[in-house]
Amino acid sequence: MTRTLITGGLVITAADEIHADVLIEGGRIAALGTPGTHGWTADRVIDAAQKFVIPGGVDVHTHMELPFGGTFASDTFETGTQAAAWGGTTTIVDFAVQSKGQSLRAGLDAWHAKADGRCAIDYGFHMIMSDVTERSLKEMDLLVEEGVSSFKLFMAYPGVFYSDDGQILRAMQRAAANGGMIMMHAENGIAIDVLVEQALQRGETDPRYHGEVRKALLEAEATHRAIKLAQVTGAPLYVVHVSAEQAVAELARARDEGLPVFGETCPQYLFLSTDNLAEPDFEGAKYVCSTPLRPKEHQAALWRGLRTDDLQVVSTDHCPFCFVGQKELGRGDFSKIPNGMPGVENRMDLLHQAVVEGRITRRRWIEIACATPARMFGLYGKKGTIAPGADADVVIYDPHAEQVMSAETHHMNVDYSAYEGKRVTGQVETVLSRGELVIDKREFVGRAGHGAYLARGTSQYLG
Ligand code: URP
Ligand code: ZN
Ligand code: ZN
Repeated sequence: MTRTLITGGLVITAADEIHADVLIEGGRIAALGTPGTHGWTADRVIDAAQKFVIPGGVDVHTHMELPFGGTFASDTFETGTQAAAWGGTTTIVDFAVQSKGQSLRAGLDAWHAKADGRCAIDYGFHMIMSDVTERSLKEMDLLVEEGVSSFKLFMAYPGVFYSDDGQILRAMQRAAANGGMIMMHAENGIAIDVLVEQALQRGETDPRYHGEVRKALLEAEATHRAIKLAQVTGAPLYVVHVSAEQAVAELARARDEGLPVFGETCPQYLFLSTDNLAEPDFEGAKYVCSTPLRPKEHQAALWRGLRTDDLQVVSTDHCPFCFVGQKELGRGDFSKIPNGMPGVENRMDLLHQAVVEGRITRRRWIEIACATPARMFGLYGKKGTIAPGADADVVIYDPHAEQVMSAETHHMNVDYSAYEGKRVTGQVETVLSRGELVIDKREFVGRAGHGAYLARGTSQYLG
């Protein structure tokens, strides 16, 4: 059994910051010890002096190879999980998709076929329900039992992923009974589609109109409706990719009432804005995602929500499409631009930059990027912390290294960076997944197939 010892670093978890040596045995954290006192020996010693020793990131919102808008997200499970590791993320939870007329099982099988044997880090699945029927409602119970314990529903994208309020209510009733978590894409898609049609009729075809028609109030209205439907059924609710200040207010109000309502935002909403969507020469298409980027003024509410715990998780919604050949499908009609942005490699660094800038503390960084996502989706204990018995998913992070984000140097399979030219302080140096090196002093030494499928428990935030 290989023993690894990480010495001299500052171990940061959501709960503590302590100078400790970390002993890893058989892929798990064996012990934390006071440096210079324990006398441990090991096959491999990693010097982490002047570095942070943090749990591997847990990104609970990715879309590798997602079919969307007549094309596919450009990262495969192989390329996307390698890029995640480069950025200090050691667990992803991706979305398997139920197509219309298909069973949940068929969708799940299809995603296993894409991912199994290809991932460099551990992975699990949520289930996108695009066809809420008697059959799929029954299937939800089986999925929860076997480790797919969360279900994404869409109030947006009529004719594709959309569910009406009756379908949403039924799925929530089922989740309330079986311990599942309902994840909601909260935008009023019916109203948005009218505004899209009207904008196009006026000749408003540029990417920036994507942001104008997908109004903040229509995100807030859908968020409110989702909360009320969840309240009626007693189901917990996790609202994904929250971007509008008014939606944060809806979540805050519900939480003040004591409802089991949770919210996630993403780095693109914290660091980018409608200014990017308005970039000339169709460059704004790089920033088309839904919910859309908002005017800069919304960012303060998102940061505040992260500090006050009205928002609990930052994940990426990583859904990359190349500018050339994919985003270009929407030249002359913004509604045909595939929705989604790359970011799985950037999240831990961008959030560390927020630490550097004094927006969040170091422990809150780990809480929103590692511990809470693991707790929220039934992975905590194994993932999201550094403690005896946990999987040895550990990142040696250099808080002093300087880097410039760029498509030239990133590892995501996409031809642009949403953060091109952005300077940040801090960089991943070494990454272990279950005690095996994946990144060793900024060299990829992992392998496709190392990543294991994670059958998840139910959320630790359920009553
Ligand atoms: O624009 C986005 N977010 N694309 C991915 C699909 C989704 O709604 O999460
Ligand atoms: Zn969504
Ligand atoms: Zn998504």
